[in-house]
Amino acid sequence: MLRGCLQHATSFPSASSSIRSNITMADRQPSVFEPQTDLESFHTHLKKSKRVLALLGAGLSASSGLPTFRGAGGLWRSVKSTDLATPQAFARNPGLSWQFYNYRRHMSLSVEPNPAHYALAKLARKMPGFVTLSQNVDGLSQRADHPSDRLHLLHGTLFDLKCSDERCDYREENYTDPVVPALAIPADQAQPAGSVVDISDSMVALPSLTTYDLPHCPECKRNLLRPGVVWFGEALPEVVLNKAKDYLAAPENIDLIMVIGTSAQVWPAAGYIGQARARGARVCVVNMDSDAPPGGWKQGDWMFAGDAAVLVPELLKPVIG
Ligand code: OAD
Repeated sequence: MLRGCLQHATSFPSASSSIRSNITMADRQPSVFEPQTDLESFHTHLKKSKRVLALLGAGLSASSGLPTFRGAGGLWRSVKSTDLATPQAFARNPGLSWQFYNYRRHMSLSVEPNPAHYALAKLARKMPGFVTLSQNVDGLSQRADHPSDRLHLLHGTLFDLKCSDERCDYREENYTDPVVPALAIPADQAQPAGSVVDISDSMVALPSLTTYDLPHCPECKRNLLRPGVVWFGEALPEVVLNKAKDYLAAPENIDLIMVIGTSAQVWPAAGYIGQARARGARVCVVNMDSDAPPGGWKQGDWMFAGDAAVLVPELLKPVIG
């Protein structure tokens, strides 16, 4: 059952496999075209755009002080953070998994949304046809008051908890830090808010935990609670997939997709770029790196290399002021 799940892809899925929604990793193809880099042509296009998509990734929150997954800082205590994002990692060692996710909750609560989060939230209030698909689970867009009906969380959020047994439908919104007292972060591992975090220090021993110490489901009272994020191999929230599908299937064309702070290596999120293109969208990439999006550059695309927190407000200025 691939539909609706998150996976790493070994190759970029073809258009014919676009019904797949497992998270996968995507390959890159060589580009024939060079992207434009001038603000003026982007502003001209944005001003006449009515339907705009944004696809967000961890780079959006980098300058708030949160590490990305695949760059420097993509390690947590010498474990690749992507290796911990699986149901198998949770089943094998729920204590380690909870320590990782409790740490990420703590870090997300210790930092603030940056000007790019606020600019996107403002665009959502100004432009009725603007919709955001976010892979971020850090809650920063929500804290920047991004209208919730226009913000679709492809990978869930760190601040939802749910029962780890699929047969129990218990869910709760939870901002308690630490999530249970046994997960309190030792003072020597806490990071000052806004700093680029070093989460690779494996020299400091983790407190040893028993299953008893971890959060339990108050409904079925038998199983552990787990973070309400989507893990590799798991289904994306159906309601979110349907929102994206409806937007892409609407009769009106899409004018633009802004691909901000994501390596676009994870399926199905990366696939939305090609699907938006197929509905007429021009692609604008905002990233520290100048890599081409999956499928390569096409005529009329833009690439703005640098920090999203600086570039995004500048790019959206003609509409948000
Ligand atoms: P990645 O870590 O794969 O990519 C982050 C991207 O942000 C990279 O392309 C960086 O070049 C770029 N970047 C870094 N700092 C930036 C800055 N200040 N401004 C702009 N760009 C910057 O993160 P994602 O693409 O979000 O899923 O990863 C997608 C998914 O893979 C995540 O949601 C997560 C991960 O495994 C799960 O955990 C299920």
